[in-house]
Amino acid sequence: MNKKIAVIGAGNVGASTAMYLAEANLADVVMVDIIEGVPQGKGLDLSQAGPVRGYNAMVKGTNKFSDIKGSDIVIMTAGLPRKPGMSREDLLNMNADIVGSVAREIKKYAPNSYVIVVSNPLDLMTFHMQKVTGFPKNRVCGQAGVLDSTRFRCFVAMELNVSMTEVQAMVLGGHGDTMVPLPRYTTVAGIPIGELIPKDRIKAISERTRVGGGEIVKLLKTGSAYYAPAAASVQMCRSILNDEKRVLPSSAYLTGQYGIKDIYIGVPVVLGAKGVERIIELKLSKSELTALQGSAKTYKEHLKILGY
Ligand code: APR
Repeated sequence: MNKKIAVIGAGNVGASTAMYLAEANLADVVMVDIIEGVPQGKGLDLSQAGPVRGYNAMVKGTNKFSDIKGSDIVIMTAGLPRKPGMSREDLLNMNADIVGSVAREIKKYAPNSYVIVVSNPLDLMTFHMQKVTGFPKNRVCGQAGVLDSTRFRCFVAMELNVSMTEVQAMVLGGHGDTMVPLPRYTTVAGIPIGELIPKDRIKAISERTRVGGGEIVKLLKTGSAYYAPAAASVQMCRSILNDEKRVLPSSAYLTGQYGIKDIYIGVPVVLGAKGVERIIELKLSKSELTALQGSAKTYKEHLKILGY
Protein backbone atom coordinates (compact mmCIF):
# COMPACT_ATOMS: atom_id res chain seq x y z
CA MET A 1 0.00 0.00 0.00
CA ASN A 2 1.34 3.49 -0.62
CA LYS A 3 0.44 4.97 2.75
CA LYS A 4 2.04 4.11 6.05
CA ILE A 5 0.71 4.49 9.58
CA ALA A 6 2.83 3.93 12.69
CA VAL A 7 1.17 2.77 15.89
CA ILE A 8 3.29 3.29 18.99
CA GLY A 9 2.47 0.71 21.63
CA ALA A 10 1.41 -2.85 20.89
CA GLY A 11 -0.74 -3.27 23.97
CA ASN A 12 -4.53 -3.38 24.08
CA VAL A 13 -5.17 -0.04 22.37
CA GLY A 14 -2.22 -0.32 19.97
CA ALA A 15 -2.97 -3.83 18.72
CA SER A 16 -6.71 -3.09 18.38
CA THR A 17 -5.85 0.05 16.43
CA ALA A 18 -3.56 -1.91 14.12
CA MET A 19 -6.35 -4.43 13.58
CA TYR A 20 -8.97 -1.82 12.69
CA LEU A 21 -6.46 -0.01 10.45
CA ALA A 22 -5.72 -3.22 8.55
CA GLU A 23 -9.43 -4.02 8.27
CA ALA A 24 -9.98 -0.55 6.84
CA ASN A 25 -7.31 -1.24 4.18
CA LEU A 26 -6.07 2.30 4.74
CA ALA A 27 -2.32 1.81 4.85
CA ASP A 28 0.49 -0.50 5.81
CA VAL A 29 0.98 -0.46 9.55
CA VAL A 30 4.13 -0.53 11.64
CA MET A 31 3.61 -1.20 15.35
CA VAL A 32 6.41 -0.27 17.76
CA ASP A 33 6.74 -1.41 21.36
CA ILE A 34 9.61 -1.72 23.80
CA ILE A 35 8.73 -5.30 24.72
CA GLU A 36 10.79 -7.66 22.63
CA GLY A 37 8.75 -10.07 20.48
CA VAL A 38 5.26 -8.81 21.30
CA PRO A 39 4.86 -6.30 18.45
CA GLN A 40 6.51 -8.75 16.04
CA GLY A 41 4.18 -11.57 17.08
CA LYS A 42 1.01 -9.46 16.96
CA GLY A 43 2.06 -7.93 13.63
CA LEU A 44 2.59 -11.31 12.04
CA ASP A 45 -0.69 -12.59 13.45
CA LEU A 46 -2.58 -9.58 12.05
CA SER A 47 -0.90 -9.88 8.64
CA GLN A 48 -1.85 -13.55 8.51
CA ALA A 49 -5.51 -12.62 9.08
CA GLY A 50 -5.41 -10.58 5.84
CA PRO A 51 -6.17 -13.36 3.34
CA VAL A 52 -9.22 -14.44 5.36
CA ARG A 53 -10.46 -10.96 6.21
CA GLY A 54 -9.73 -9.67 2.71
CA TYR A 55 -7.24 -6.91 3.42
CA ASN A 56 -3.87 -6.22 1.84
CA ALA A 57 -2.37 -4.08 4.56
CA MET A 58 0.81 -5.52 6.03
CA VAL A 59 1.28 -5.12 9.77
CA LYS A 60 4.89 -5.10 10.85
CA GLY A 61 5.87 -5.24 14.51
CA THR A 62 9.19 -3.90 15.69
CA ASN A 63 11.23 -2.58 18.62
CA LYS A 64 13.05 -0.08 16.43
CA PHE A 65 11.73 3.45 16.14
CA SER A 66 13.69 3.89 12.91
CA ASP A 67 11.04 1.66 11.29
CA ILE A 68 8.47 4.47 11.53
CA LYS A 69 10.43 6.37 8.86
CA GLY A 70 8.14 7.68 6.12
CA SER A 71 4.93 7.33 8.16
CA ASP A 72 2.10 9.62 7.10
CA ILE A 73 0.43 9.34 10.50
CA VAL A 74 1.68 8.24 13.91
CA ILE A 75 -0.85 7.08 16.50
CA MET A 76 0.56 7.29 20.01
CA THR A 77 -0.94 4.64 22.30
CA ALA A 78 2.08 3.79 24.48
CA GLY A 79 1.66 4.36 28.17
CA LEU A 80 0.12 2.94 31.27
CA PRO A 81 -3.65 2.40 31.41
CA ARG A 82 -5.79 3.10 34.45
CA LYS A 83 -6.56 0.57 37.15
CA PRO A 84 -9.74 0.70 39.26
CA GLY A 85 -9.82 3.78 41.52
CA MET A 86 -7.39 5.77 39.35
CA SER A 87 -8.22 8.93 37.46
CA ARG A 88 -6.60 9.62 34.10
CA GLU A 89 -4.62 12.38 35.80
CA ASP A 90 -3.03 9.82 38.13
CA LEU A 91 -1.09 8.65 35.07
CA LEU A 92 0.35 12.11 34.45
CA ASN A 93 3.99 11.80 35.42
CA MET A 94 4.53 8.21 34.31
CA ASN A 95 3.00 8.71 30.90
CA ALA A 96 4.62 12.13 30.40
CA ASP A 97 8.03 10.42 30.46
CA ILE A 98 6.91 7.86 27.89
CA VAL A 99 5.24 10.48 25.66
CA GLY A 100 8.33 12.71 25.87
CA SER A 101 10.72 9.95 24.83
CA VAL A 102 8.45 8.76 21.99
CA ALA A 103 7.95 12.35 20.81
CA ARG A 104 11.71 12.69 20.34
CA GLU A 105 11.75 9.53 18.19
CA ILE A 106 8.83 10.78 16.10
CA LYS A 107 10.58 14.09 15.58
CA LYS A 108 13.71 12.24 14.47
CA TYR A 109 12.24 9.56 12.21
CA ALA A 110 8.86 10.88 11.02
CA PRO A 111 9.28 14.66 11.01
CA ASN A 112 6.52 15.23 8.46
CA SER A 113 3.90 13.01 10.04
CA TYR A 114 0.56 13.86 11.62
CA VAL A 115 0.30 12.68 15.20
CA ILE A 116 -2.83 11.43 16.94
CA VAL A 117 -2.35 10.98 20.68
CA VAL A 118 -4.38 8.40 22.61
CA SER A 119 -2.25 8.05 25.76
CA ASN A 120 -3.82 9.47 28.92
CA PRO A 121 -4.32 11.98 30.44
CA LEU A 122 -5.18 12.76 26.89
CA ASP A 123 -5.32 16.54 26.56
CA LEU A 124 -2.16 16.97 28.61
CA MET A 125 -0.24 14.28 26.71
CA THR A 126 -1.28 15.87 23.41
CA PHE A 127 0.06 19.23 24.61
CA HIS A 128 3.30 17.54 25.70
CA MET A 129 3.63 15.72 22.36
CA GLN A 130 3.29 18.99 20.44
CA LYS A 131 5.79 20.78 22.64
CA VAL A 132 8.44 18.06 22.43
CA THR A 133 8.09 17.40 18.70
CA GLY A 134 7.74 21.10 17.95
CA PHE A 135 5.38 20.11 15.09
CA PRO A 136 2.86 22.68 13.84
CA LYS A 137 -0.25 22.52 16.00
CA ASN A 138 -2.49 21.43 13.11
CA ARG A 139 -0.34 18.28 12.84
CA VAL A 140 -0.83 17.14 16.45
CA CYS A 141 -4.23 16.33 17.90
CA GLY A 142 -5.72 14.05 20.50
CA GLN A 143 -8.29 11.30 20.23
CA ALA A 144 -10.93 11.69 22.88
CA GLY A 145 -14.00 13.48 21.57
CA VAL A 146 -14.78 10.80 19.00
CA LEU A 147 -14.59 8.21 21.76
CA ASP A 148 -16.67 10.21 24.24
CA SER A 149 -19.22 10.96 21.51
CA THR A 150 -19.45 7.36 20.35
CA ARG A 151 -20.16 6.35 23.95
CA PHE A 152 -22.94 8.94 24.08
CA ARG A 153 -24.25 7.76 20.69
CA CYS A 154 -24.25 4.15 21.83
CA PHE A 155 -26.16 4.95 25.04
CA VAL A 156 -28.76 7.00 23.12
CA ALA A 157 -29.21 4.17 20.61
CA MET A 158 -29.63 1.68 23.45
CA GLU A 159 -32.16 3.96 25.16
CA LEU A 160 -34.30 4.32 22.04
CA ASN A 161 -33.62 0.95 20.46
CA VAL A 162 -32.58 2.58 17.19
CA SER A 163 -29.62 2.13 14.86
CA MET A 164 -26.34 3.33 16.37
CA THR A 165 -25.35 5.05 13.14
CA GLU A 166 -28.50 7.21 13.15
CA VAL A 167 -27.32 8.94 16.32
CA GLN A 168 -24.99 11.92 16.09
CA ALA A 169 -23.59 13.42 19.28
CA MET A 170 -21.20 16.10 20.44
CA VAL A 171 -19.08 15.96 23.56
CA LEU A 172 -16.67 18.79 24.33
CA GLY A 173 -14.03 19.52 26.93
CA GLY A 174 -11.25 17.51 28.50
CA HIS A 175 -11.22 13.74 28.24
CA GLY A 176 -11.96 13.20 31.88
CA ASP A 177 -14.58 13.80 34.47
CA THR A 178 -14.82 17.44 33.37
CA MET A 179 -16.00 16.57 29.85
CA VAL A 180 -19.10 18.36 28.62
CA PRO A 181 -21.69 16.22 26.79
CA LEU A 182 -23.96 18.46 24.67
CA PRO A 183 -27.46 16.92 24.44
CA ARG A 184 -28.60 20.06 22.54
CA TYR A 185 -26.34 19.03 19.67
CA THR A 186 -27.27 15.36 19.83
CA THR A 187 -29.75 14.04 17.29
CA VAL A 188 -31.32 10.87 15.96
CA ALA A 189 -31.62 11.15 12.17
CA GLY A 190 -31.69 14.91 12.65
CA ILE A 191 -34.28 14.86 15.47
CA PRO A 192 -32.98 16.52 18.65
CA ILE A 193 -32.93 13.96 21.47
CA GLY A 194 -34.88 16.40 23.65
CA GLU A 195 -37.93 15.45 21.56
CA LEU A 196 -37.39 11.73 22.04
CA ILE A 197 -35.97 11.17 25.52
CA PRO A 198 -37.23 12.62 28.83
CA LYS A 199 -34.96 15.15 30.55
CA ASP A 200 -34.05 12.96 33.51
CA ARG A 201 -32.97 10.13 31.20
CA ILE A 202 -30.84 12.52 29.09
CA LYS A 203 -29.17 13.63 32.29
CA ALA A 204 -28.49 10.03 33.30
CA ILE A 205 -27.10 9.18 29.84
CA SER A 206 -24.86 12.28 29.88
CA GLU A 207 -23.55 11.29 33.29
CA ARG A 208 -22.92 7.70 32.19
CA THR A 209 -20.97 9.08 29.21
CA ARG A 210 -18.89 11.32 31.45
CA VAL A 211 -17.73 8.36 33.53
CA GLY A 212 -17.94 5.88 30.63
CA GLY A 213 -14.24 5.04 30.69
CA GLY A 214 -14.33 4.43 34.44
CA GLU A 215 -17.28 2.04 34.07
CA ILE A 216 -15.13 -0.15 31.82
CA VAL A 217 -12.04 0.12 34.07
CA LYS A 218 -14.16 -1.15 36.97
CA LEU A 219 -15.37 -4.10 34.93
CA LEU A 220 -11.99 -5.04 33.43
CA LYS A 221 -10.10 -4.54 36.72
CA THR A 222 -6.67 -4.76 35.05
CA GLY A 223 -6.79 -1.97 32.48
CA SER A 224 -8.95 0.39 30.49
CA ALA A 225 -11.08 0.37 27.34
CA TYR A 226 -9.48 -0.36 23.99
CA TYR A 227 -11.89 -1.34 21.22
CA ALA A 228 -13.80 1.95 21.08
CA PRO A 229 -10.63 4.09 21.59
CA ALA A 230 -8.98 2.19 18.72
CA ALA A 231 -12.01 2.53 16.45
CA ALA A 232 -12.18 6.26 17.18
CA SER A 233 -8.50 6.74 16.27
CA VAL A 234 -8.98 4.94 12.97
CA GLN A 235 -11.89 7.21 12.05
CA MET A 236 -9.65 10.23 12.62
CA CYS A 237 -6.85 8.66 10.56
CA ARG A 238 -9.17 7.98 7.68
CA SER A 239 -10.43 11.56 7.67
CA ILE A 240 -6.86 12.86 7.47
CA LEU A 241 -5.50 10.34 4.95
CA ASN A 242 -8.50 10.60 2.61
CA ASP A 243 -8.96 14.33 3.16
CA GLU A 244 -12.56 13.63 4.19
CA LYS A 245 -12.89 16.87 6.16
CA ARG A 246 -15.14 15.21 8.69
CA VAL A 247 -16.33 17.29 11.61
CA LEU A 248 -15.10 15.35 14.62
CA PRO A 249 -14.60 16.39 18.22
CA SER A 250 -10.86 16.19 18.87
CA SER A 251 -8.36 17.57 21.31
CA ALA A 252 -7.01 20.63 19.48
CA TYR A 253 -4.88 23.61 20.39
CA LEU A 254 -7.03 26.63 21.13
CA THR A 255 -5.91 30.17 20.44
CA GLY A 256 -8.81 32.07 21.95
CA GLN A 257 -11.80 30.05 20.71
CA TYR A 258 -14.40 29.61 23.44
CA GLY A 259 -12.40 32.18 25.44
CA ILE A 260 -9.62 29.59 25.96
CA LYS A 261 -6.06 29.68 24.75
CA ASP A 262 -2.69 27.90 24.91
CA ILE A 263 -4.16 24.54 25.79
CA TYR A 264 -5.31 21.36 24.06
CA ILE A 265 -8.93 20.50 24.74
CA GLY A 266 -11.82 18.71 23.02
CA VAL A 267 -13.68 20.82 20.46
CA PRO A 268 -15.30 20.12 17.08
CA VAL A 269 -12.71 20.34 14.32
CA VAL A 270 -12.53 19.76 10.58
CA LEU A 271 -10.03 16.94 10.02
CA GLY A 272 -8.53 16.75 6.55
CA ALA A 273 -5.30 16.45 4.61
CA LYS A 274 -3.86 19.33 6.59
CA GLY A 275 -4.74 17.75 9.92
CA VAL A 276 -6.78 20.06 12.11
CA GLU A 277 -7.90 22.41 9.35
CA ARG A 278 -10.41 24.40 11.34
CA ILE A 279 -11.91 24.66 14.81
CA ILE A 280 -15.65 25.09 14.89
CA GLU A 281 -16.96 27.45 17.53
CA LEU A 282 -20.44 26.44 18.65
CA LYS A 283 -22.80 28.86 20.32
CA LEU A 284 -22.77 27.49 23.83
CA SER A 285 -25.16 28.31 26.62
CA LYS A 286 -23.71 30.07 29.64
CA SER A 287 -23.57 26.87 31.69
CA GLU A 288 -22.01 24.86 28.84
CA LEU A 289 -19.35 27.53 28.32
CA THR A 290 -18.64 27.71 32.04
CA ALA A 291 -18.23 23.92 32.12
CA LEU A 292 -15.83 23.98 29.14
CA GLN A 293 -13.79 26.81 30.58
CA GLY A 294 -13.73 25.02 33.95
CA SER A 295 -12.38 21.94 32.19
CA ALA A 296 -9.65 24.08 30.59
CA LYS A 297 -8.76 25.66 33.90
CA THR A 298 -8.24 22.25 35.50
CA TYR A 299 -5.88 21.25 32.68
CA LYS A 300 -3.89 24.46 32.93
CA GLU A 301 -3.23 23.59 36.58
CA HIS A 302 -2.12 20.09 35.61
CA LEU A 303 0.22 21.44 32.92
CA LYS A 304 2.08 23.27 35.66
CA ILE A 305 3.00 19.88 37.15
CA LEU A 306 4.72 19.10 33.85
CA GLY A 307 6.59 22.39 34.06
CA TYR A 308 4.60 24.27 31.40
N1 APR B 1 7.66 2.97 23.56
C1 APR B 1 6.83 2.06 23.00
N2 APR B 1 5.92 1.36 23.70
C2 APR B 1 5.87 1.56 25.01
C3 APR B 1 6.69 2.50 25.67
C4 APR B 1 7.62 3.23 24.89
N3 APR B 1 8.44 4.10 25.43
N4 APR B 1 6.37 2.48 27.00
C5 APR B 1 5.38 1.59 27.15
N5 APR B 1 5.06 1.02 25.97
C6 APR B 1 4.06 0.00 25.66
C7 APR B 1 3.99 -1.11 26.69
O1 APR B 1 5.05 -2.02 26.53
C8 APR B 1 2.63 -1.71 26.36
O2 APR B 1 2.72 -2.79 25.45
O3 APR B 1 2.76 0.56 25.66
C9 APR B 1 1.85 -0.55 25.73
C10 APR B 1 0.63 -0.14 26.51
O4 APR B 1 -0.28 -1.18 26.42
P1 APR B 1 -1.33 -1.54 27.58
O5 APR B 1 -0.59 -1.67 28.86
O6 APR B 1 -2.14 -2.69 27.09
O7 APR B 1 -2.22 -0.22 27.70
P2 APR B 1 -3.45 0.20 26.75
O8 APR B 1 -4.71 -0.34 27.30
O9 APR B 1 -3.10 -0.12 25.34
O10 APR B 1 -3.47 1.78 26.98
C11 APR B 1 -2.44 2.59 26.46
O11 APR B 1 -3.93 4.40 25.96
O12 APR B 1 -6.17 4.78 26.39
C12 APR B 1 -4.87 5.03 26.81
O13 APR B 1 -5.07 5.31 29.22
C13 APR B 1 -4.59 4.46 28.18
O14 APR B 1 -2.50 5.63 28.54
C14 APR B 1 -3.09 4.39 28.17
C15 APR B 1 -2.77 4.05 26.71
